[in-house]
Amino acid sequence: MTDRHQAALEAVAAAVTSEPDTRKAMDATVQLLTTHLPDYTWAGIYLLEGNELCLGPFVGKPSPHTRIPLGRGICGAAATGKTTIIVDDVHADPRYLACSLETRSEIIVPIMLDGAVLGELDIDSDRTAAFAADDRELLERIAMLLAPRLAALRA
Ligand code: SME
Repeated sequence: MTDRHQAALEAVAAAVTSEPDTRKAMDATVQLLTTHLPDYTWAGIYLLEGNELCLGPFVGKPSPHTRIPLGRGICGAAATGKTTIIVDDVHADPRYLACSLETRSEIIVPIMLDGAVLGELDIDSDRTAAFAADDRELLERIAMLLAPRLAALRA
């Protein structure tokens, strides 16, 4: 990972482990990601509730997509496929649900524990093809940090 990605990971790990309130830990996560990584124009966390992804803490313009059924959008595809999805050009992807007119690329990382999806990290960029292997590694590691916390929210 680049120094920027490493710094973001360390900052998020420190915030998540020291913050006992899970909502505040999620809020710190999206704040720190957008602060450390300038290409991250919008960052949010969706929580799976029944068959819908519900928008939790986010940074950036308010999204019209606050509840996304599992069968819809790139968000729905990442949750049902249980895998990270990177879209280099959102306008070329028929699954795309638009959040902002400026968005060009997107990465969605499922937050999973023991094979069950609990939520997702969703990052948008105003730059085409802004996300690569470094971003996937960073966000998958953060998803692993958040997973037990999201699971505890449901317990
Ligand atoms: N673009 C996502 C919807 C979420 S907004 O970008 C915040 C999708 O296609 O599922």
